[in-house]
Amino acid sequence: MTQNELKTLVGQAALKYVQAGSIVGVGTGSTVNKFIDALASMKDSIAGAVSSSVASTERLQALGIKVFDAAEVDELAVYIDGADEIDHAGYMIKGGGAALTREKIVAAQSRQFVCIADDSKLVQTLGHFPVPVEVIPMAARRVARQFAALGGLAVLRLEGGVPLVTDNGQHILDVTGLKIADPLGFESQINQWPGVVTVGVFAFQKAQVCLLGGPGGVKTMLF
Ligand code: 5RP
Repeated sequence: MTQNELKTLVGQAALKYVQAGSIVGVGTGSTVNKFIDALASMKDSIAGAVSSSVASTERLQALGIKVFDAAEVDELAVYIDGADEIDHAGYMIKGGGAALTREKIVAAQSRQFVCIADDSKLVQTLGHFPVPVEVIPMAARRVARQFAALGGLAVLRLEGGVPLVTDNGQHILDVTGLKIADPLGFESQINQWPGVVTVGVFAFQKAQVCLLGGPGGVKTMLF
């Protein structure tokens, strides 16, 4: 099976976590796009969605799914999203699609995080994938120096030759060279740095379930 087919498989498998009549938390990325496409088949039996990005909002609305503002909704039963890396405890690196801040917010207001991923995303230790960090632009160089002091290399993410601007109007640093043996400690530490909006390690907002697509089909991992 190709990676694209695996994404379709886990996107469809996630439908069983969607409760009739509910508002569903929806992440961002190519795997989630498969989930959104599958969710269209249930659009008349759900109330709608809370989305983590402009891109997902546009896709949901194009398929006729109502999108609520996160601030209008107190709690969501489930949040479905992909990951750049996930370990055997459900800790993740996210933000390859630059949507990490809103993803963490929607994950935090959800009772259950269901991660959908192909098996290339499963790792023993987080840190091979560059850690995305959303920063306020005036802090970017200083935050990059703080990562250098930890042995990391932080590179400003560009789009079309200029700094990428997130849905929140901020910039992204992608940090390589870090081995994240203690995801909770790492997330706590980086969150203290002035100018950091969100670090793309999801330890406090980890997954409770991962639907992992591989050659044998979809494997359900519970954390
Ligand atoms: C976006 C994310 C995505 O979930 C992550 O990048 C995985 O994306 P894909 O499903 O395209 O591999 O965190 O900010």
